Amino acid sequence: MINTLSLEEKMRLLIAKGGFSTQDLNGKVSKIEVSDGPCGVRRPNDEYPNGIPSFCYPAPHVLANSWDREIVYKIGQSIASDCIEQGYDILLAPGVNIKRTPLCGRNFEYFSEDPILAGELAAEYIKGCQDKGIGVSLKHFCANNSEWDRLWISNEIDLRTLREIYVKVFEIVLSKVEPYTVMCAYNAVNGVNCAENKGLLNDILRERLGYKGVIVSDWGAVHNRAESLKASLDIMFFEEESGYLDLKRAYEDGFITEEEIDVSVNRILALIEKVSKTKEKRIPISTSERYENAFNAAINGMVLLKNKDNVLPLQSGKICLLGDMCVNPARCGGGAGGVSQKGEIPSLKQALKKYLPQIDVEYEMLYANICPTSNPANEQITNIPKALDLVYDSDVTVMVVGSSSIVETESYDRASIRLSDKIEKLILEVSKNANKLVVVVESGSAIDMSAWIDCVDAVLYTGFCGDVINDAIAGVLLGKYNPSGRLSETFPLSKDNDFIKKGTDSIRVDRYSEGCLVGYRYYDTKGVDVLFPFGYGLSYAEYKYSNFTIEEKGEYEYVVGCDVENVSNKDGDEVVQLYVRQIDHVLEKPNKELKRFKKIKLNGKEKKRVEFNISKDCFESFNVWNNDWFIPKGRYELLIARNVRDIEHCYKIKV
Ligand code: GLC
Repeated sequence: MINTLSLEEKMRLLIAKGGFSTQDLNGKVSKIEVSDGPCGVRRPNDEYPNGIPSFCYPAPHVLANSWDREIVYKIGQSIASDCIEQGYDILLAPGVNIKRTPLCGRNFEYFSEDPILAGELAAEYIKGCQDKGIGVSLKHFCANNSEWDRLWISNEIDLRTLREIYVKVFEIVLSKVEPYTVMCAYNAVNGVNCAENKGLLNDILRERLGYKGVIVSDWGAVHNRAESLKASLDIMFFEEESGYLDLKRAYEDGFITEEEIDVSVNRILALIEKVSKTKEKRIPISTSERYENAFNAAINGMVLLKNKDNVLPLQSGKICLLGDMCVNPARCGGGAGGVSQKGEIPSLKQALKKYLPQIDVEYEMLYANICPTSNPANEQITNIPKALDLVYDSDVTVMVVGSSSIVETESYDRASIRLSDKIEKLILEVSKNANKLVVVVESGSAIDMSAWIDCVDAVLYTGFCGDVINDAIAGVLLGKYNPSGRLSETFPLSKDNDFIKKGTDSIRVDRYSEGCLVGYRYYDTKGVDVLFPFGYGLSYAEYKYSNFTIEEKGEYEYVVGCDVENVSNKDGDEVVQLYVRQIDHVLEKPNKELKRFKKIKLNGKEKKRVEFNISKDCFESFNVWNNDWFIPKGRYELLIARNVRDIEHCYKIKV
C-alpha cells in the first residue's frame, strides 16, 4: 500500500483531516472517525459544539471507586456499543493521569492517585472497548496532572518518580493490553514538550514499554510536526496546514528522511487495516444491558463515608429532599470528558417513588446554582422558612450538594476542595432543624467536609454517576442496594490546600519535589491527617477477616490469603487490599504501596477465601543507573488491609 502513495500523500497522512478524523487522501485510504470521551460519546458538530447528546456513564473516578475489574470492562463494552451505533471507530479514552492534586479539574476523568489501581482498571476499560471492535486512545502521556497551564508548563520529574508513578500506570496497562492508540499530553516534561519528546515517546513508551501502535497528539499539542515525527508521534490532531508545511520544509532541508516518514506511515496504515477489519464484526450490546452496566457501576462506585447509628438505609417515615441537584444532578464534568444530556433523567423524588410508590417524600429546592465558582448573581436561596418547616416535620432530611461541570472541567483546576461557604452554612443551618440529616455529595474529586461532617448523620459520596445517578442514589438510600465503593483517591483536609507544590519560582515550571510521595504515599508516609484515607468506604454489611496464611512458592513468590466473612444479614461486596512495605530501603520509599486488590461478593453470613499471588513486581524499585527495575534485598511486610490505614494482618518476610 505504501508504495502507491506519493511523498506528499504520505506527509498528509501524518496529519488529521479536520477535527476528529484521520486523513483519507481523497478516498485512497479509509478514514478513521474518533470521538471523546471517558464518560460517554462526545462528538461535537455545528449544532452541538459540546457534543451530540448521548448516554452518560459513571465517570472513571466512580469506576475506580468500584475497584471492580468486571464492572469497568462492561462499561468499556457499553461505551463502545454507543460508538458503534453512532459510527465512530476510536474512543478517545481512558484518561489515566495520576491524581497528584485533588484540585485538578479533570480528576473526574481519571482513575486514581495510585498507578496500580488506575492501570489495572484502565486495562479492563480498554479490553471492554476493543473486544467490541472499537479502538481507544490511552491518554495523556504523560504527567498531565493539572489543567491551569497544561499547554505551556514543564513538569520537572526525576526519572525514578516518572517510572514508579507517572509512567507506571501506562506500563501496567501496556503489560495487559495493546491500545489502538496512545495520546501524548500537552505539557512538557523536564523541558521538552511531550509531542516532541523522543525520550518519552520513543525511548520509554516504544522501546522500554514495548508499545508498537500509533501515537496521536492531543488536540493542538504539536509545536513542530517534523520534530514530533522524529520523536515518533504518528498523527497530529487536529488538522493544521502548518503541520504539512513543517514536514515539507524539514524534508527539503534534509532534517527528516522518507524512511522516517515511512515508519510512521506504516503504523498508520496498519491501524487503518485493523480498524477496517474490526468494522464488519462490531456487534453492540443492547441498550438495556448498557443501562444495567451503568447502574451497577454507580452502585458499586458510590462510597458510604459516614452512617451514624445506621441512619441509612432509610426506614419508613417522612423524608425531606433539599437542593436543586435533586432535580439537576451532577452527571459529569465539563470539557472533553463531558457528555451532553440526551432526554430526561428522573429527579431523586421520582426515583424514590419508582421503588416505593407510597413513600412519604417531599422536595423543597431551598438552594440552587451555588458552587465555589458560581456567579453570586445566579445563586438562589429561597423559601427558607417553608423549607426549614419541612425539615423540622420530617424524620430524615436528605441534602444533595456537590460540584458541577463548570467547576470540574478541562483547562481549569479548582481553587479549593471545599464546598462553597454558603452551602457549608446551609448544611449547618439545616442540621440544627433536622431530626436526621443525610448529605449526598456529587463531585468529581475529593471534597474537604471537615467544616460540617460532625453535624450530619450520614454522608454518601456518589461522584459523577452519569444518567443513572438518581436511580442509583434512590436504590442505595432505600437499601435496595448496598454501596460498595472504596475511595480511589485520598480525601485530604484543605489545610494542605497547596497541593500543587510549585517547586520553583518560575511560573512555567512545576518541580515534582515530592517525588514518589503522591496521594496516600505522601499522607501515609508523613503521618498527615486526612479526612478519609485511600481505600476507605463503609457498607450496610459488616465483614470479619480471619485465618491469615502465607506460603512461600519460590524466589519472590508467595501466596498470602485470608478468610473474609460477611457477619451481617445484608448481601454486600468487600474490597480486600494488599500493600507492601519495604523495611530496609536505600531509597526514599513510601510507607506502603498498593500491590494487589480483589473485590468479592459476600451474601449475608457467607465466608470466602481470598488469596493473592505475590511476585517480583511487588518488591521492585526503579534503578535510574541501569534504567531498569531492581529488587533491594532485605525485609518487607505484606499487609492485608481494608484501606491504607486499616491493616488487618502483616506478614513479615525477607528477600
Ligand atoms: C482535549 C483533551 C483530550 C481530548 C481531545 C479531543 O483537549 O485534552 O483529552 O480527547 O482534546 O477533544
